Parts: sequence; structure tokens; C-alpha cells
Amino acid sequence: MAIKAGVLGATGSVGQRFILLLEENPEFELVALGASKRSSGRAYGDVVAWKQTKPIPAQSSGLTVHECSAVHFTSCDVVFSGLDSDVAGDIEEEFVNHGINVISNAKNYRQHPQVPLVVPTANPEHLDHLANHDKSKGIHICISNCSTAGLVVPLKALQEKFGPISHMMVTTMQAVSGAGFSPGVSSMDVLDNLVPYIGSEEDKLEMEPRKILGDVDASTGTFLHIPQDEFKISATTTRVAVIDGHTASVSIKFAKNKPSKEEIIATWREYQSQCELLKCKSAPEHAIVYLDQPDRPQPRLDRDTGNGYTVSCGRLRDDEVLDYKFVCLSHNTVLGAAGSGILIAELLKAKNII
Ligand SMILES: NC(=O)c1ccc[n+]([C@@H]2O[C@H](COP(=O)([O-])OP(=O)(O)OC[C@H]3O[C@@H](n4cnc5c(N)ncnc54)[C@H](OP(=O)(O)O)[C@@H]3O)[C@@H](O)[C@H]2O)c1
Repeated sequence: MAIKAGVLGATGSVGQRFILLLEENPEFELVALGASKRSSGRAYGDVVAWKQTKPIPAQSSGLTVHECSAVHFTSCDVVFSGLDSDVAGDIEEEFVNHGINVISNAKNYRQHPQVPLVVPTANPEHLDHLANHDKSKGIHICISNCSTAGLVVPLKALQEKFGPISHMMVTTMQAVSGAGFSPGVSSMDVLDNLVPYIGSEEDKLEMEPRKILGDVDASTGTFLHIPQDEFKISATTTRVAVIDGHTASVSIKFAKNKPSKEEIIATWREYQSQCELLKCKSAPEHAIVYLDQPDRPQPRLDRDTGNGYTVSCGRLRDDEVLDYKFVCLSHNTVLGAAGSGILIAELLKAKNII
């Protein structure tokens, strides 16, 4: 039976990506949409400022947009939240308290010790700890920040094979769709330019990988961070004139043994997450690809690999300060947002959690 899905923040950048991906996926039936009071009570097609390259799916276009109140979403098996973080906290809490399962893109609960922070091709095993959740409430899961999502997949593959990574320096070049639509980034700011600051993004990049790659205390269901002194991260985040696709230049140091370049590339190419093993519909054939060409990955050429679920790595080199440096690229509204939400829901179904 199809998973009945709702989308909160359906008119936004992430919300629109949810609409597109859900429409194409027979595992889901889209039954309810929510946005602000400005949009509610009207047909989705009449209120949305559609920015996707594919047309608005006809069925979604005719759905009425509701205010984000749990009463309108009780028929949903899962609700995906693409809400602005200014409002996501209270709204998502209300939904969970009404027994509705929420998978959120907003930052509000990412650091909550009882809420898993999941990138489905990196730490799907964290979802197992939800099997015994308090049934009087809905499940609450957070998706990582969009730049973190692309980064932790190649790190997880290396951590599994070669043990912990102790240091990471990362500089991102992030697409404008990552800033949302309203107000988003103005064209005067970003065209012919690079903005070397994205508010609070560096904090997320320095914090979220330590939870995603961390352990879980199974007795209390607490999701733990790798202590800061065991995994030091220094991040610089920038905005560039790219529509979709976040690129990162990354340097890492292993805590124990330093593998060879060949071993790293082989590890990335062989890596399989539970999404592939459990045959989730949206799982990419390869969670990571390594590109041998010296000028790849590039956002326009590589962001849609694996329908946007694959992380493209390249340019692995020795690093004179840490051990190695490389470039990685991921689709910020697919793996970095809506796609991860959908893949998490598919994992929950495959694991009989919903
Ligand atoms: N863009 C990305 O790549 C990305 C990636 C990862 C995570 N995120 C996170 O995902 C969330 C959404 O980001 P976005 O880029 O899609 O933002 P966005 O384009 O600005 O969209 C925000 C959505 O929130 C709705 N909204 C605003 N105020 C509301 C209210 N008071 N009540 C109910 N709905 C309200 C808007 O509805 P109206 O149209 O009716 O105003 C719109 O649907 C944010 O928390 C963001 O940090 C974004």
C-alpha cells in the first residue's frame, strides 16, 4: 500500500522538490499540503511560484493548501516538513504530539538528543532505534543541513573501513536554491560574485557530522555526538551563482592508519548503504561515485547523478597539512533535503517502523 504523505512548506524551494519527487514515486500518495496563511485555502497551482524545470504535477496543482495544523494531516502516514525554521519548531511539535510522523528539513530539532539526524545513505542504522518509540507520539526525524549531507556519505564509507577521522577542514561553494525563495539570495548579490558568508551555516557543518557519524546509546535511545576533541572540524561556507548542487573542498586526517589513495577510491566505489541493500525505491545504484577526470565533479554536469541521490567525489590528492584532500558534490534539494526525506520514509517502511 502506498505511504500517504503530506508536505508542510509545500510552496517553498524544498517543498516544491518534495512535490516533484513524490509525484514520480509510486510508493507514495500525496494527500495533504500545508503552507502559511498567505497560501492556505487556495489551490496549490494558484499560489505556488513554481521554479522547477519540470512542470507542476497536475494532481498536486489541484490540491488545496491548508494551514499547518495537525487536524488537516491526520490521514498521513508521514509528513515531510520544508518549513521555515522560524515556524517549524512549534508546528512540528504539535504534529508529533498528535501522533503524526514528521521528517523535517528544518534545523530546530537537529541537535535534540532523542531526535535522529539522518542522511539515509550515511547513517540509516540510526533509524533502528525508533522501533520502540513512544507510540502515543509521532516519530520525529531530522534531515541534515544540505551541505552536511553530501559530506558525510564519503566520510561514513571511510570511517567504516579505516576507523575514525580526527580532523577535517572544509570550504563549501553552495547553490542559490539552498537559500530558499523568500527572500532567497538577490541576483545583485550573487551574479558576477561570490558571497563568503552564509548565516549560521558553518556552525551546522561543524556540529552535524559529529552526530551523524556518532554512536547511539541504545539503552536510552540517545543520539550521541563524537566529542569535539576527537573529531575537529573547521568550516568555511560560501554562496556561488549555481542554481542547484553544493560543492565542497575537503581535507581530512585519519585518527589511526592512513590508507592509500587507491584504497580510498576503492572504498568509495564499493560502498553500499542499507538503502541499496534494502532495495529502497529511491536508492541510487551507487551512493558515491569517484570521477577520474581532473576537472570533476561540477554542479551542472554531476548534480543529477543517481537522480540527485549520489555524491560525486573527485580530485583526491595528498594534503601536506592533513592526510588527503578531495572535492565532493551533491544535490542540495535532493540528497540535501527532500530526496533524503523520501528515502528515509522508504527506509522506515522497509524496516517496518511505519
Ligand atoms: N533549500 C535547501 O536546499 C534546503 C536544504 C536543507 C534544508 N533546508 C531547510 O528547509 C526549510 C525550507 O527551506 P526552503 O529553502 O524551502 O525555504 P523557502 O523557499 O523560503 O520556503 C519556506 C516555506 O515555509 C512556509 N512558511 C513560511 N512561514 C510560514 C508560517 N508562518 N506557517 C506555515 N508555513 C510557513 C512558506 O509558505 P508560503 O509560501 O505560504 O509563505 C514556504 O512554503 C528551511 O528550514 C531550510 O533551512 C533547505
